[in-house]
Amino acid sequence: MGRYFPDPGKLLMNLSGIWASVFVIAVLAMTLVGKIKSLRLINRYRRFIGLSAFFYALLHFVIYLVLFAGLSWRWISSDLIEKPYIYVGVIALLTMSILAITSTKGTVRRLGKKWKPLHRLMYLAALCVIIHLWWQVKSDITIAAWFTLFLAPLLIVKIPTLPLYKKFFKKN
Ligand code: HEM
Repeated sequence: MGRYFPDPGKLLMNLSGIWASVFVIAVLAMTLVGKIKSLRLINRYRRFIGLSAFFYALLHFVIYLVLFAGLSWRWISSDLIEKPYIYVGVIALLTMSILAITSTKGTVRRLGKKWKPLHRLMYLAALCVIIHLWWQVKSDITIAAWFTLFLAPLLIVKIPTLPLYKKFFKKN
């Protein structure tokens, strides 16, 4: 594109992370919108959007391993001490991996009623993304703030459906 960057790895790392986060927002928003009767058609694309979030997160991880760490375990272990926010990123990626693996038609059928509670783990992944973003903020909060603005309401509306919330507030 005729543009030069001091560190293309950094740019690719940021772009892949941003796209992964955008797809996380999209899939959670679709879950909500898909409940509206006239918009149910949208549910067909949920798997595709969820898998896109996973693949961008995986790409983000591969870029970290190859372009940042140069596949050096020694480098990674010292980086992990300096950047603990990486751990929460890994939790988000691992969670999304489980959801990607169990998203096939066969697994949905085999898991039956257990599939839905398992796939609510996407909210845990989203929470980890918010923590991952705020934990790495140095001075510029723009990215963390924008993603929180979209993700927080999607998480908050789910609180009343949590088993713990129901146990304490919906005794009748
Ligand atoms: C194995 C998992 C992960 C690792 C090792 C990891 C590592 C990192 C690192 C080292 C950075 C800082 C890059 C820099 O110095 O510019 C970063 C930034 C970022 N990560 Fe991750 N991450 C992981 C998972 C995720 C996931 C799952 C998401 C979102 C779905 C995500 C979203 C982002 C975003 C948006 C940024 C840019 C933040 C900013 O520029 O303010 N990361 N990640």
